[in-house]
Amino acid sequence: MDRKPRAKVVEILNEAFNSEVGAIGVYMDQHFHMDDAGYDKLAELLKSNAKDEMGHAEKLAERILMTGGAMAYGKHVIPDPKRRSITEIIKVNIELETEAVAMYNRGIMICAAEGDNASRRLLEEILMDEERHLDDMITRLQLLKDHGDHYIAEKLM
Ligand SMILES: [Fe+2]
Ligand SMILES: [Fe+2]
Repeated sequence: MDRKPRAKVVEILNEAFNSEVGAIGVYMDQHFHMDDAGYDKLAELLKSNAKDEMGHAEKLAERILMTGGAMAYGKHVIPDPKRRSITEIIKVNIELETEAVAMYNRGIMICAAEGDNASRRLLEEILMDEERHLDDMITRLQLLKDHGDHYIAEKLM
């Protein structure tokens, strides 16, 4: 295998890695606060998403090193204390996942253009998870709008 790192691929893999690190922090922060407030089901879902993002970060780091690239730690999103109501949490996550979907779609095109189809495939796999996260949050926001407190009591506590 050609171990010479492809700079553009390593760059997008690192961008994805840093975005995953941010997502882990946001989901864990939401998890702690929802757990503390007694919204057990929502807290568990947020923890499960954090674990998904950690799995993504791990696979991206493995891929960066395997292709001969170096980790480039950079800025990432941090939790916003002003956005911790249930509705705001779901909205934050819709924003986060929408950005992730756009980034992975962009990354897939970069990897394809660089002829790195294994990296492309990894990003495609992660993209499927992000679309699932996004779809789930959009559905929950709609249920919250339609059913309000009843939905919170039945499904999120
Ligand atoms: Fe992710
Ligand atoms: Fe996600």
